Amino acid sequence: MARRKIVAGNWKMNKTPSEAVALVNELKPLVASEDVDVVFCVPAIDIIPVVEACKGSNIEVGAENMYFEESGAYTGEISPAMLTDAGVKYVVLGHSERREYFAETNETVNKKVLKAFEHGLTPIMCCGETLEQREQGVTMDFIRQQVKVGFQNVGAEQAKKAVIAYEPIWAIGTGKTATTEQAEEVCAGIRACIAEIYDDAVAEEIRIQYGGSVNAGNAAELFAQADIDGGLVGGASLKADFGKIVNYK
Ligand code: PGA
Repeated sequence: MARRKIVAGNWKMNKTPSEAVALVNELKPLVASEDVDVVFCVPAIDIIPVVEACKGSNIEVGAENMYFEESGAYTGEISPAMLTDAGVKYVVLGHSERREYFAETNETVNKKVLKAFEHGLTPIMCCGETLEQREQGVTMDFIRQQVKVGFQNVGAEQAKKAVIAYEPIWAIGTGKTATTEQAEEVCAGIRACIAEIYDDAVAEEIRIQYGGSVNAGNAAELFAQADIDGGLVGGASLKADFGKIVNYK
């Protein structure tokens, strides 16, 4: 079974609401595709105008984070129901920047993954090693732990629909992309880990993206790998280049 590719932009903390609408209007014709799922993951305050601007296009909108409670006294947080009501379909969870600067752990990421599924949101769960871990040879041990805890109590049917983004921390925003071999090796390892937790059917269906300095020049080779089902794209998702990444073939 051929998995459908998914290319998601991660805007991070960039673009005011009016800038966001202008960017969507610029990119909309460039990211048109019948073969690839296209997602724009945008800052919370941009979600409503971006959903509006994407109407009638092939673009789905994602959030960059959400909280794992339904509602209540959690000043500053965004609930899953707020996202679905606004028209959001995907949510990035456990990005390395959130783990590093906002103290997210495998356990809180797991709570968010479960809550996202409860609300019909597709999680894009991020994992990835530091340069130090890679040099120590513990990359796969570390990532297996992130995946195992992140998917705790997630049912097989839900797991099939999930997206995992493998993003080596040393490759994010550095212009230093993992080699195709490095990226494929870990993505294949993640798929094997999913097969262990569930079974081959789930491993065959789950989509695994590579992220970390993906650009118009390297997307085609990365996305051609057997276990790489698309990309999570930061810097290059804010430019016309994103159209070339979506239409990488
Ligand atoms: P980058 O970011 O493409 O700018 O390296 C990727 C990400 O953090 O998702």
